[in-house]
Amino acid sequence: MSVEAKITQPSAERVVVAGRVMPEFHHIGVEPLTGACGAEVTGVDLRKPLSDEVLREVMLAFEHFLVIMMRDQDLSIEQHKAFSRYFGELTELPQAPTYAGQSDMQEVRREAHEPVSVVPFTRFHTDSPFLPRPPLCMVMRAIDAPRYGGDTAFANMYLAYEELSDGMKETLGRLRVVYSGKDIWSKNAKLDKDKQLRLRESHSFSEDHLESVHPAVRSHPRTGRKALYVTPAYFKHFEGWSPEDSRSLLDYLAHMPHKLQYQCRIRWKPNTVIVWDNRFLQHCGIHDYENERRHLVRTTIIGERPI
Ligand SMILES: [Fe+2]
Repeated sequence: MSVEAKITQPSAERVVVAGRVMPEFHHIGVEPLTGACGAEVTGVDLRKPLSDEVLREVMLAFEHFLVIMMRDQDLSIEQHKAFSRYFGELTELPQAPTYAGQSDMQEVRREAHEPVSVVPFTRFHTDSPFLPRPPLCMVMRAIDAPRYGGDTAFANMYLAYEELSDGMKETLGRLRVVYSGKDIWSKNAKLDKDKQLRLRESHSFSEDHLESVHPAVRSHPRTGRKALYVTPAYFKHFEGWSPEDSRSLLDYLAHMPHKLQYQCRIRWKPNTVIVWDNRFLQHCGIHDYENERRHLVRTTIIGERPI
């Protein structure tokens, strides 16, 4: 594997990308994917422990760009977990199918013969918002990817929030959302067999870990920067609002991540590794391919209680 660093030279001008002045990097290469979010990071070998300088810049790139991508990272399960632990504590998930008998790894798998319906959420969403401490980030590696298609799209929800009018910001600033994952298994069981999602069959989460109330606008715990935290996945209603009253505002807000100016897309290849911030991005797998296998494996890092 080539680990030659393509170091981004600091520019005399202040480059603004992802809504903020781009930091300077001296130990890794960082190439933004779009003006909204995402960067390719080069000059790192994730099979080995990272030096302090490289780790500091990887974390800086992650915080700035919200999703970072590294190509050609042929990781063992243990190497995948070791890299993931730089971001925090790994967690199990109650609903996501596990990978290779590892309770703290998950997989997103669609076999060549399978319909799109086996994978959950082909619309923009944040993962597992029903948990009291939803995931901070995921570290995901492609084992198999379609030759063409099957990208994952991301949308920067800081930018989505920042472009709202002051009146809407004020309204949303007072709102909280009830998210629940309690009924996904019973709903899934009612579907025809060929329409059912692949879900984890058993877990040890208690019922009160499957439903939470979170702010509609959440803040980064250190910087205080605010982002929209409303998604239709697992959404029940805004606190104090009926499901009917909630629906039209939800529909409006669910449209926000579809704006191209907030997005980037990751094109998967085998051994592409990405880390994405599940708090301040929404994401969506794009199932625009047929008759090919797509197999992505990941760890999930537990986040803070949204504030
Ligand atoms: Fe997801």
